[in-house]
Amino acid sequence: MINALLALFFRPERGWDPVPADYAQTYAEAEWQKVDLTLVAKLGQLVGGLEGKEVLDLGGGPGQYSVAFAKSGAIVTWHDVSRNYLRIAQEKAASAGVRITFSLGYMDEAPRVLNKQFDLVFNRICFYYGWNDAHFVGVIYALMRPGGHAFIESNNLSFGWDRLPPFARLRAWINATLGFKIGHPHPPRGRIPALFLKYPIERMTVEFPTAHIDRVFVQKAGRSQ
Ligand SMILES: C[S@@+](CC[C@H](N)C(=O)[O-])C[C@H]1O[C@@H](n2cnc3c(N)ncnc32)[C@H](O)[C@@H]1O
Repeated sequence: MINALLALFFRPERGWDPVPADYAQTYAEAEWQKVDLTLVAKLGQLVGGLEGKEVLDLGGGPGQYSVAFAKSGAIVTWHDVSRNYLRIAQEKAASAGVRITFSLGYMDEAPRVLNKQFDLVFNRICFYYGWNDAHFVGVIYALMRPGGHAFIESNNLSFGWDRLPPFARLRAWINATLGFKIGHPHPPRGRIPALFLKYPIERMTVEFPTAHIDRVFVQKAGRSQ
């Protein structure tokens, strides 16, 4: 609610960008060095091969996974709120020689802005920037084609807890107990898969590669076309 209200005033199309250019550059340089191609291959297997599949990189940042999916033959849409990352991702796509559709905007607005569904929705390390955990799972679900898949990797509540100042801990507690989100607290461990269970799904696999990370592979119910 609060995050959705703030988004009425802070508009990327009017030049607002939450990510400073120098931070975006530093993050991009680091992340481009460590793209997990085994994850890309695993997701390819899950969707029956990436060739010709529609993939949405939701909160795509510097575009390292958008480019990896496009190089594997997928038809990729990058959607993110940051113009600084947009510039980096566009340059990377151009130098890799791949075509990607770029869309600047809030993740929560993606169903309305993109107005289509995807074979794979890829959401890595940005779930907590959704306006509200329950609503954002609904957003991801809406973006999946019947029979389509989503991959979400998110830090959970225990990530960086020791370093959180008291007010941030309070916000995290309010989100964890009341589901009311102020800012961007990490979701409690297991909340993302629990929220997907409210929707018709075909199957779901959940991994906890560390105590601080939730990884969800989920397939929407229905026939893929
Ligand atoms: C930690 S980065 C992750 C980027 C990329 N997914 C990756 O795997 O490296 C978080 C990303 O979320 C984006 N972001 C933050 N809030 C957003 C929002 N409300 N809507 C869309 N993108 C958002 C940032 O611009 C940034 O690209």
